[in-house]
Amino acid sequence: MNGIQKFIIGKPLDTGAVVKNIDATVFSGGNIGELYVEPDKKTITYKMSEETVVYGLGETLRGINKRGWLYVSNNSDEPHHEEGKHSLYASQNFLLVDNGDGACFGLYIDHPGEVRFDIGYTKSDVLTVSAEDFDFSLYRIDGETPLEIVKNFRTLVGKSYEAPLWAYGYGQSRWGYKDASDIRDVRDNYRKLGIPLDMIYMDIDYMQDFKDFTVNPERFPDFEAFVREMKEDGIRLIPIIDAGVKIEKGYDVYEEGIKNDFFCKKEDGTPLVAAVWPGKVHFPDFLNPAARKWFGDKYKVLTDMGIEGFWNDMNEPAIFYTEDHLKEVFGELDNLKDKELDIWGFFGFKGLLNSIDNNPEDYRRFFHEFNGVKVRHDKVHNLYGFYMTRAAGEAFERNNPDKKILLFSRASFMGMHRYGGVWTGDNMSWWSHLLLNIKQMPSLNMTGFIFSGADTGGFGCDTTEDLMMRWLEFSIFTPLFRNHSALGTREQELYRFGHAEDFKNIIELRYALIPYIYGECTKAIEENGMYFKPLSFEYRYDERAREIEDQLLAGDSIMIAPVYEQNKTGRYVYLPEDMKLVRFRSFSDYDTEVLTKGDHYIKAPLNEVLVFVRKGKKLTLTEPASCVDKLDVNKVASVIEF
Ligand code: GLC
Repeated sequence: MNGIQKFIIGKPLDTGAVVKNIDATVFSGGNIGELYVEPDKKTITYKMSEETVVYGLGETLRGINKRGWLYVSNNSDEPHHEEGKHSLYASQNFLLVDNGDGACFGLYIDHPGEVRFDIGYTKSDVLTVSAEDFDFSLYRIDGETPLEIVKNFRTLVGKSYEAPLWAYGYGQSRWGYKDASDIRDVRDNYRKLGIPLDMIYMDIDYMQDFKDFTVNPERFPDFEAFVREMKEDGIRLIPIIDAGVKIEKGYDVYEEGIKNDFFCKKEDGTPLVAAVWPGKVHFPDFLNPAARKWFGDKYKVLTDMGIEGFWNDMNEPAIFYTEDHLKEVFGELDNLKDKELDIWGFFGFKGLLNSIDNNPEDYRRFFHEFNGVKVRHDKVHNLYGFYMTRAAGEAFERNNPDKKILLFSRASFMGMHRYGGVWTGDNMSWWSHLLLNIKQMPSLNMTGFIFSGADTGGFGCDTTEDLMMRWLEFSIFTPLFRNHSALGTREQELYRFGHAEDFKNIIELRYALIPYIYGECTKAIEENGMYFKPLSFEYRYDERAREIEDQLLAGDSIMIAPVYEQNKTGRYVYLPEDMKLVRFRSFSDYDTEVLTKGDHYIKAPLNEVLVFVRKGKKLTLTEPASCVDKLDVNKVASVIEF
């Protein structure tokens, strides 16, 4: 295939990430261009120049330029992801190396287990990719420009998932809505203030004892009628589905899984017992096609009741504990109980408790039936969330062929972008996580995860009104646009704060922009392009643009420069060319000002959204409505041209 070379190293497993068949070279080591592959050392190395910028890795930590850190592909439940972490919920093993002198290339490591990307961490000018299991397909992707490389890569991995138009509306979520009355309250409060709303998310409390594909009949006495009632008000209910299936006699999903041997088993042939929200669970073996089909068809229970969207959760899979490891810990605690602990003994004891959840040893205790072969989980760990989402996506193609269903997942891997989008997992109500969200978006877009977004306002800990407002001012540009928060944190529905009018203006602006955002995302999907781009992808030889980490191009017409620090009334913005600044106080109340190429200090009051229209481009807005179904997407409210 044009621009792509495939090398087989060792004995790779077929992950399902790649859809294009291309001729491969069986490779035992040596140079692939400037890359040096050493199977003995289990490394691929590349010497970076001072100018080299390395993009990619999808949803992970740190900057748009990945240089200077060690990233580990190992899907992890990692809500407290500060700078020092190495892994998040996703693994997208794609790198784009840009040397600034016109030379650039892409690299994709199709490996389902742990891969380490040391990008100038050990030695600041050396990029080293390593994997304990040195068996994978390596793709080198060429192209004249970063965008051409992205396009070639995406041709290899297939077309991205398309979400329905209504899913571009605003969604309110919170872990803690218990029953129909809580959900009606959310609807009523939004409608009362006239703040548009399209989705209310249902977290685990809608289920009967956290059992997938059940609805608690006391909390939702006539669920089907409730789904209808909400839809008549323009609101879709979006339930969560968790990876673990509760162990409970008589629960059909559990019984069928046992009967058909669809759960992941241990070496001794018994199903692994882990614990997550429902208590003790088994994990469906989504890697086994029959189990995948079975689990996927279960979503029909809810689609038959009128549900049109889902979020797949806990699918790294997150493990609170396994029965086996807990036994080990209790055994060791028994040993310690009557001992006099010195300080190191005390830390050992504390460490024991900290070792209980998401323990790497536990991921070695169970197996999958993968392509007819028994494979230990850790060897294919990063596929699990992908294959859960694939189960749902394939089922929707079978069972709901005429409908677009909203689907997104917490854990992901390359290939999953064909079946659903992602949210970036549990984050915190921290300003640094707003900035991280900005940086994650273009990297996710490179890898085809166009329908993506973060928990706006922050999931964990207490948000503040100004953080919520600033985060919304960014999130109104993200395709997936959801406000979500954790049980026990400050409530952060927009009607909880003092400035409802400002929030209304911001959300209405989103709705006025939906035709633009949807159109640009659809274009990115159709053309294997990107909706969110780093500036350097368009302003290729602009030295300054190469270093900009906090401004993005959103679609073809605009650049955004969000404010992501508390108590700021403005910020510096770099313009790589003359642009027209639009200062929105609402979708219909705005000023424009032409600014010249270069640095500017731009005033940014808390309730204004700043957009920069690029030269020769235009931004068209429609009239907002209370929900997307009521939006006249062809109606032009205003056109801002430069
Ligand atoms: C996980 C999810 C989060 C959800 C919670 C309860 O932490 O990431 O979004 O609210 O579980 O289901």
